[in-house]
Amino acid sequence: MGPQDEFTLEQLRTLLSPQRYAHSLGVSAVAGELAKRYGAPVEKAQLAGLLHDCGKSQSKNILLNRVLEFGIVMDEVERCETGLLHGPVSAKLAQEMFGVEDEDILAAIYYHTTGRAHMSLLEKIIYLADYLEPQRSFPGVDELRELAKEDLAAALVQAMDLTLIRVIERGLLIHPRTVAARNWLLE
Ligand SMILES: [Fe+2]
Ligand SMILES: [Fe+2]
Repeated sequence: MGPQDEFTLEQLRTLLSPQRYAHSLGVSAVAGELAKRYGAPVEKAQLAGLLHDCGKSQSKNILLNRVLEFGIVMDEVERCETGLLHGPVSAKLAQEMFGVEDEDILAAIYYHTTGRAHMSLLEKIIYLADYLEPQRSFPGVDELRELAKEDLAAALVQAMDLTLIRVIERGLLIHPRTVAARNWLLE
């Protein structure tokens, strides 16, 4: 199964709102471009981008049901910030529903909401593509898009910093994996 597979696209369309489906296509395209630039497998990046939010349902109940169904163990932060769970749930759905077995693709989907220390190239690409896809607009987005073409790690740190600022402003919990990812990138 490849990213352009008609069946994959149709399946995904039934899972997501039109807006999130369009977002997923955008992430897939940007991930493919970054993969080309940084020497990662392009098709893997496109597929990971396409499926990264496949478990992001509009309903919290459906999300939590899938967490139970898949036997995903929530940590303390995920218990409070249940939105973070769409990473692990999407990875499981990518495996069960879309037949993805590639560990790197599954990890890129699993960790796209938080990042983690020792992220693979593909994980970095998906995190950043999610942040920079064409529908995203925030002050500085064009500069960050340019930086992503020149220095993947620097762009990633900046994306994480902006995410952390948002999380703090909204009074939410910070996931320790994001702190670990940022420290690792800065070291
Ligand atoms: Fe997501
Ligand atoms: Fe996303």
